[in-house]
Amino acid sequence: MSRKIIAAGNWKMNKTVNEAVEFVEALKARVSDADSEVVVGVPFVCIPGVKKAAEGSNIKVAAQNMHWEEKGAFTGEVSGPMLAGLGVDYVIIGHSERRQYFAETDETVNKKVHAAFKYGLKPIVCVGESLTQREQGITAELVRYQVKIALLGLADSQVKETVIAYEPIWAIGTGKTATNEQAEEVCAVIRDCVKELYGNDTAEKVRIQYGGSVSAANASELFNMPNIDGGLVGGASLKLDDFEKIAKYNK
Ligand code: PGA
Repeated sequence: MSRKIIAAGNWKMNKTVNEAVEFVEALKARVSDADSEVVVGVPFVCIPGVKKAAEGSNIKVAAQNMHWEEKGAFTGEVSGPMLAGLGVDYVIIGHSERRQYFAETDETVNKKVHAAFKYGLKPIVCVGESLTQREQGITAELVRYQVKIALLGLADSQVKETVIAYEPIWAIGTGKTATNEQAEEVCAVIRDCVKELYGNDTAEKVRIQYGGSVSAANASELFNMPNIDGGLVGGASLKLDDFEKIAKYNK
């Protein structure tokens, strides 16, 4: 299996431009020998500074959202060409906070995923169940449904380049990480769903991350599970020591 582990920070609405640049300047040397692909998901306004700070390093940059249209009357929104113009590599799409607070749906997620590819950005698509849904026993069904709609209409070659982040909502920012087995079980369901839709070759190539209270202490075990190809990391990605350890999960 040759899927490269991806350690992606999701800073959410944290850090000013100066703080972001300072952080990435310091992170560069710390992760230069990381085995994982290192990504920082930063606020829009931090992107130019962070891209410059990351120059010549192995750190890639993600936006946390995008609009699906190229341009137009969408006050406050940012488009694919704008991000591509800044040299952004990845874009996080459909994070549960966007679904919860900004009314994003599986359908808008699908539109954004298509737009990401259209403008040369790689999507990190977030899916995951709430605590109630887990207790109702519908996690697998729900996550399959989310994945199916998110990927609708994509070519095999695009699905292979997509990163899917399994993020149980009850584990986000709560310090309550899913167990390795719980995370592995759902990531395996997602891979199986991709296999059903796109075949074995694509399913073996797509990277599936776990997200939800990933920490320096639990990253290694999680990332070594057979179907977990890294993590989408919130809180711990804001701290240099922690994120360095996560990026170097096997050292
Ligand atoms: P957390 O956030 O690591 O702080 O739980 C993860 C995420 O929301 O992507």
